[in-house]
Amino acid sequence: MSFVEYKDLIKDGDTAIVFLGHGSMFPVRVQAGGQTQTKYGVIRHSADLIGKRFGAKVTCSKGGWVYILHPTPELWTMNLPHRTQILYSTDISLITMMLELKPGSVVCESGTGSGSLSHALLRTIAPTGHLYTVEFHQQRAEKAMEEFRAHKVDHLVTVRNQDVCKNGFGVTHAADAVFLDIPSPWEAVGHANAALRVEGGRLCSFSPCIEQVQRTCRALEEHGFTEVHTLEILLQAYNVRTVNLPLPDLGKGATADAADAPSDVAADSGPPPPGMAQFKSGVPLKEMVGHTGYLTFATKSLF
Ligand SMILES: C[S@@+](CC[C@H](N)C(=O)[O-])C[C@H]1O[C@@H](n2cnc3c(N)ncnc32)[C@H](O)[C@@H]1O
Repeated sequence: MSFVEYKDLIKDGDTAIVFLGHGSMFPVRVQAGGQTQTKYGVIRHSADLIGKRFGAKVTCSKGGWVYILHPTPELWTMNLPHRTQILYSTDISLITMMLELKPGSVVCESGTGSGSLSHALLRTIAPTGHLYTVEFHQQRAEKAMEEFRAHKVDHLVTVRNQDVCKNGFGVTHAADAVFLDIPSPWEAVGHANAALRVEGGRLCSFSPCIEQVQRTCRALEEHGFTEVHTLEILLQAYNVRTVNLPLPDLGKGATADAADAPSDVAADSGPPPPGMAQFKSGVPLKEMVGHTGYLTFATKSLF
């Protein structure tokens, strides 16, 4: 198992995702002789996991079952141990596209935080790219490196434990893209400029507050960046439901019952009641994730 390469069989030392149902999963480090408790009973790693296929349905000791999934950056983002606030896949998808990342890209990032974005960046730039990530909190830097090793992506990443605003990324004129998720990104714009290739590259800064965006945009202009755009991306998820609606009573054929019957948005099985029309509809979830942060993108260009 590696976060940048799919393998069929589960091995000792792998990270796997135990999937109990929608919205209910957690990561597990597979260890010979190890055990994991679930609400369906115990999973014994040697007997139930090692040598089995990723995706297998595993029966736990109380008879209930779970699926064991191969890890991906998206599953890791949903399940990782939080050491900081993290970026989620909606923002990450826009960041990846707007930074024009691809296999072979060289990327600078700060701060590493909990490594949520880092895992996605690594999967995109593998197998020949490199991520230089800077984190000034020593334990967080060490923990991130430990996870990169366990997830077999450490050959693609260099973690530096320093202040990016004072000491930069430790990279000069080598990066295709720079990403900032720190409280004062405007103080790191000069270092980002120095890290990007002479011929140019892309920059993104994530900030929750508009005042941070204003200061960052000013710094970007002062350092000669162009194409400065600030975007926000919001995800609206839908449930697909079977909806019953009463047919209008046009005076012939329809029963009084049918005309009075209420619509039933929750009904999801069985034939429609008499006088009702049934169809599939996308129903937006009542709750959605609101503001995470503003994403400011900019280009460094040679001319
Ligand atoms: C919000 S977290 C980053 C989360 C990360 N993007 C993720 O997806 O997991 C911000 C991190 O930046 C670090 N940080 C803040 N200012 C910094 C600086 N000047 N230099 C290096 N790291 C810094 C913090 O210690 C923290 O771990």
